[in-house]
Amino acid sequence: MFNTQCFLSSLSKGYSKRLLYYPSAGQRDGCSVCDLDADIFIFSDFRPKSLAARRAFWKRFHQSCARHNIRLIAATNISRIFSIDRRKWGIFIFLDNNQAVKMIRDSGLRISTFIGVTDGCAEGGNYECCNESPFLEKILALMPDDGGMSVITDHSSYLFQTDGWDNPKSETNFVLNDSTYKTSIIRERVPGFRKRACKFVIWKKCLVNEKNETVPRQFREQKELDEMCRSIILSDQLF
Ligand SMILES: C[S@@+](CC[C@H](N)C(=O)[O-])C[C@H]1O[C@@H](n2cnc3c(N)ncnc32)[C@H](O)[C@@H]1O
Repeated sequence: MFNTQCFLSSLSKGYSKRLLYYPSAGQRDGCSVCDLDADIFIFSDFRPKSLAARRAFWKRFHQSCARHNIRLIAATNISRIFSIDRRKWGIFIFLDNNQAVKMIRDSGLRISTFIGVTDGCAEGGNYECCNESPFLEKILALMPDDGGMSVITDHSSYLFQTDGWDNPKSETNFVLNDSTYKTSIIRERVPGFRKRACKFVIWKKCLVNEKNETVPRQFREQKELDEMCRSIILSDQLF
């Protein structure tokens, strides 16, 4: 039986992979997210509760990825595993964001890009904001040791600290669990997202050099993805 947690753990082995995580993902942003630069894309949303609702939700999400070549590899009661354009992995987890974060943490994967956009904290039934403490701190704790984390958000007083959304500083620092983090606000528009959404880059200060460079990463080889796809049994019929 295919096991999502074991699969995530297997992805953490071998080459260094850039993981993008989008909590409260909904079902309409597939295309814009898959355009972003990462090797593994994890989405979570607890809205569909029944198996039938999950099937319908996946169908709509799949349709939202229209420009990409999405191939369903495995379906479980809590997830969909798919390849994106034959060279990236996608995992949709139909659980609470905190459960998804625990699965990422337990797998040993690290998060390179985090998307905190319309996460349901204002409307959408979220009991906490993904861009504030404590949720964001759980994410920052999963920043790769060898580099920074890009954060795409449309609201976050935690990252903006004192100056507010419309008047951002170009840089802020904050301390979390004895590490100092440097936030460079580059306010890059992210294509496909709402106008207000922009990108920040956060670095652990001890890793920042004057050029904000990080250790080059190795990329997943096509061969590796093909082999893993072949080794998984498609179990969509069961769900
Ligand atoms: C307003 S919708 C926006 C969806 C998507 N971010 C977008 O911009 O289209 C918010 C989504 O967050 C999901 N959600 C809210 N709280 C959640 C939680 N704690 N865990 C997982 N999903 C959550 C809801 O089910 C809903 O689909």
